[in-house]
Amino acid sequence: MEITSNFKKLKSEIQQAILSEEYWPALTTLLDFERVPSPPFEHRSHVFKAINDSIAIKLFTDRSKNGHDIKIHEALSGIPYYPDMYAYIDKQVIIIEKASGEALNGLLKKQKISKGELESIREQYSEAVKLAAERNVEDWDFKLEHIFWDQKTKKLMKVDLGGYDLYTDFQLDPENQVARGLEVLNREMKRYLKYLNN
Ligand SMILES: Nc1ncnc2c1ncn2[C@@H]1O[C@H](COP(=O)(O)OP(=O)(O)O)[C@@H](O)[C@H]1O
Ligand SMILES: [Mg+2]
Repeated sequence: MEITSNFKKLKSEIQQAILSEEYWPALTTLLDFERVPSPPFEHRSHVFKAINDSIAIKLFTDRSKNGHDIKIHEALSGIPYYPDMYAYIDKQVIIIEKASGEALNGLLKKQKISKGELESIREQYSEAVKLAAERNVEDWDFKLEHIFWDQKTKKLMKVDLGGYDLYTDFQLDPENQVARGLEVLNREMKRYLKYLNN
């Protein structure tokens, strides 16, 4: 297991479990995990969330693309809108911060989001896109299920960095990225609401 600069944020017993010979049995004696139910389409990975702690474990299944999340987590490290990555095994697994709250598709379905919250969601989403663009990272695989909103803390977090690109040969324009990002967010929310009403 490789550790990152975020590793020290974890409780020491969790650190020890992660560093032990077999991290999974060690972690499951400390914490209860729930498996994220897979939607009816094929997922590239299996995700387990600690029930009473804020870590999540993503096991990759598709060996060809799975180094990618790790690279993007490293590039976006320190930006609060993206999960911290604590530890990883290349092409196999990442141990990351669990997003609190619920994904936007679920919240929209329950019709639980107020106008004021929508405003905050748009603001924080814009900030998340801008900060990533400043590091030359773009999310070209927009999904409502990847945007978590915590109604208690009013904080947004974007998960699944496997569909992001990190450009090395040119500089993204953050303003342009924000404009496009907001357009896609508004369009996809509208489309989903329309779908729910049919
Ligand atoms: N850091 C996280 N915090 C909370 N839930 C997460 C986190 N990462 C993933 N999930 C949940 O697990 C699901 C699948 O994970 P994801 O990273 O999207 O895998 P895949 O690359 O297979 O699409 C997500 O849609 C989300 O519901
Ligand atoms: Mg996904």
